[in-house]
Amino acid sequence: MSTVTDTSVLAARFQETFGAVHDGVWQAPGRVNLIGEHTDYNEGFVLPFAIDKTAKVALRVRDDSTVRMLSTFGGHGLVEADLAELEPGSGNGWSRYPLGVAWALKERGIEVPGFDLLLDSDVPSGAGLSSSHAIECAVISALNELTGAGLAAQDLVLATQRAENVYVGAPTGIMDQSASLRGAKGQAVFLDCRDQHVDLVPFDAESSGLVLLVIDTKVSHSHADGGYASRRASCELGAEILGVKALRDVGVERLEEASGLLDETTMKRVRHVVTENDRVLQTVEVLGSQGPASIGPLLDASHVSMRDDFEISCPELDLAVDTSRANGAIGARMTGGGFGGSAIALTPVGQEQQVRDAVVRSFGEAGYATPDIFTVTPAAGARRLT
Ligand code: GLA
Repeated sequence: MSTVTDTSVLAARFQETFGAVHDGVWQAPGRVNLIGEHTDYNEGFVLPFAIDKTAKVALRVRDDSTVRMLSTFGGHGLVEADLAELEPGSGNGWSRYPLGVAWALKERGIEVPGFDLLLDSDVPSGAGLSSSHAIECAVISALNELTGAGLAAQDLVLATQRAENVYVGAPTGIMDQSASLRGAKGQAVFLDCRDQHVDLVPFDAESSGLVLLVIDTKVSHSHADGGYASRRASCELGAEILGVKALRDVGVERLEEASGLLDETTMKRVRHVVTENDRVLQTVEVLGSQGPASIGPLLDASHVSMRDDFEISCPELDLAVDTSRANGAIGARMTGGGFGGSAIALTPVGQEQQVRDAVVRSFGEAGYATPDIFTVTPAAGARRLT
């Protein structure tokens, strides 16, 4: 997607496009997940943070039910829709995200007027950094304010999840939108996905002489494809056989018993979720007691679990992780839903260049596309800019 446009440039583009002044500009970030993958829809624990790559929307409500939308990065040109005729699935590309949240708010009985919208985003799409949720969270923040609905962050999270699950057709959990809506500068979001309780956990890699590198493999993925849904179905089957509401209710001490009850594949999926939940709790504890320099082994173990038990990694992600580790990263793992997207590598400042060079070189040697590598730090969550 494009580089972030200055809000005054966005305002001028808005006026030029729609012949009227916008009501405001709202911004929402993408996220990385430090640890806790595929635990959210199992009512477990996650530890993501909002990043300083964001979607911005300039928006103006209309006095009819028409929606007109344009992005700064082109793609679909001007998209028009009528809110009175919205059906899940309608729209294409990024336009489904604003339409999806409008639909989800309407489903809650909120009167959503038509709107004109200009979108700008520098969250890379398909990179596992939640570019879609960044758009949804920016739009829902705007509509929540402009309609006077005044929903709390937890309700906005659930509405965006409905938009993703029903309107877009991706059976995802609540992690990404929680990070985008509830993130804060310098803090990771320790979220209990059962009751949406959040504890903000300081994550300051820099003061420990570390950087968190994101390695975007450029292998694009979609959670509306079958892989994500089939993992979710295995988890639900596992929970049913083990007689619990969700895998959150299974502790590591039950894994041995579970292996006698579950088929091999279901057992692997369950083992990932159960051990991953435990790793999130350990990471929070280690961050508090020893700091970021001590969480490396937990990140490594998480990757192995996703690669071997949950089977959602891919050769490019494995290469990014292995090469980072071999060149000085103290912990590395794929982040996000998997099947492509990005890896994270916690790296001493002095090793950063070596890791970057080695990963680019190894991708070249393997014949893969050149990865995009950048650092991230925890940034502010969704907010109004003007
Ligand atoms: C995607 C989904 C999230 C979560 C992760 C995996 O990012 O949107 O809800 O399930 O995958 O942890």
